[in-house]
Amino acid sequence: MDTTTHFTTANAQQYIDLEDQYGAHNYHPLPVVLERGQGIYVWDVDGNKYMDFLSAYSAVNQGHCHPRIINAMVNQAQKLTLTSRAFHNNLLGKAEEYMAKLFGYDKVLMMNTGVEAVETAIKLTRKWAYMIKGVEHNKARILFASNNFHGRTTTVVSASNDPTARKDFGPFMPGIDSIPYNDLDALRKELASDPNIAGFIVEPIQGEAGVFVPDEGYLAGVAAICKEHNVLFVADEIQTGIARTGSLLATCGACDCKAGECHQSKATKPDMIILGKALSGGSMPVSAVLCDDRIMLNIKPGEHGSTFGGNPLACAVTMEALRVVIDENLAENAKKMGEIFRAGLREIAERNPLITLVRGKGLLNAILIYADENSDIAWEICMEFSKNGLLAKPTHSNKIRLAPPLVINETQIREALGIIERSLDAFK
Ligand SMILES: Cc1ncc(COP(=O)(O)O)c(C=O)c1O
Repeated sequence: MDTTTHFTTANAQQYIDLEDQYGAHNYHPLPVVLERGQGIYVWDVDGNKYMDFLSAYSAVNQGHCHPRIINAMVNQAQKLTLTSRAFHNNLLGKAEEYMAKLFGYDKVLMMNTGVEAVETAIKLTRKWAYMIKGVEHNKARILFASNNFHGRTTTVVSASNDPTARKDFGPFMPGIDSIPYNDLDALRKELASDPNIAGFIVEPIQGEAGVFVPDEGYLAGVAAICKEHNVLFVADEIQTGIARTGSLLATCGACDCKAGECHQSKATKPDMIILGKALSGGSMPVSAVLCDDRIMLNIKPGEHGSTFGGNPLACAVTMEALRVVIDENLAENAKKMGEIFRAGLREIAERNPLITLVRGKGLLNAILIYADENSDIAWEICMEFSKNGLLAKPTHSNKIRLAPPLVINETQIREALGIIERSLDAFK
């Protein structure tokens, strides 16, 4: 691998300037301009090669431009791409059946982006509360966990406590509250205090918060407490799902996904799961909500939908993207590679006190940097990583998420550890 130092060239700068001039300034990307990707690698416009340790925020689990996924996409694109849901198409039922059986739910509702699927879950939860639980009209409340990230719509940022996500976007959606994450007592207390609570929407591991892994038993505790109070446990697996954390779903716990069927342990099985990102292997926006008939069938024709949701192109791509995960044993690989990677990071931390903590599960990992919340050292470290041929992005000012495509092998993991250590040494 080319490990020479990469700088932003005049060639790259012209693309950055163009975005800056004509695009909204709603992101702060690293100054790297990419034009090609294959497997765990991406190349910039000057031909420099990088290991991708972000995977488009865990959307490219199957690796960039996986040939099977791209083939499925091209073949279907030449036949039929969009019908809208005004008509049936020959792939929607097949994709729904495939996902329902794979993840162990009666029904699937396909959408496009992750946040749309979260909105869908909110609507399903409220409908269920009014139609089945018997909550008084317009009184339903939905709980979230603090420091969550579920997307950017006005309803979903109503559940956020991140000032940047909220500032000047109010007024916010009523009936949305949050309790501390990883705190079963807080959940128990809140649910006992109000019969109008319809659901608890939570990430099995908080990704954007810096890969915060809850205590062992938290998810089983959430499932049990929600059941006891007749409240829906809704898991946002948009980032943690599709093998990222070493099992097909993070709420599977220690299940074995090789059979191509999700044997979710009853103890942690959510009433509803939300998927996105890697559902299409990062090739197009596809998201989905899965739950059983007692919840899904409360929504009737005309009450929810989207022009593109469930389009034939998305259906073909999704089935192939999921088959790739199963056929290539990506959950098992994520588990094994994650263990090697964290062990390597912990060894680096022993030699370099800049790393104060290594945490994660499977290939969703983060290092915490010795710095205060306002420091930009994590950004500077990511710049150094990129100069040395590895791409990662800080989440908050002192945490760096490290989440490569799940097709990574041990040699590549060790190569990445070398780049990480060498880059960190520049700050000693
Ligand atoms: C847990 C979680 N939920 C929801 C979303 C929103 O997904 P999208 O950006 O596709 O709307 C994200 C995106 O990072 C996420 O990590």
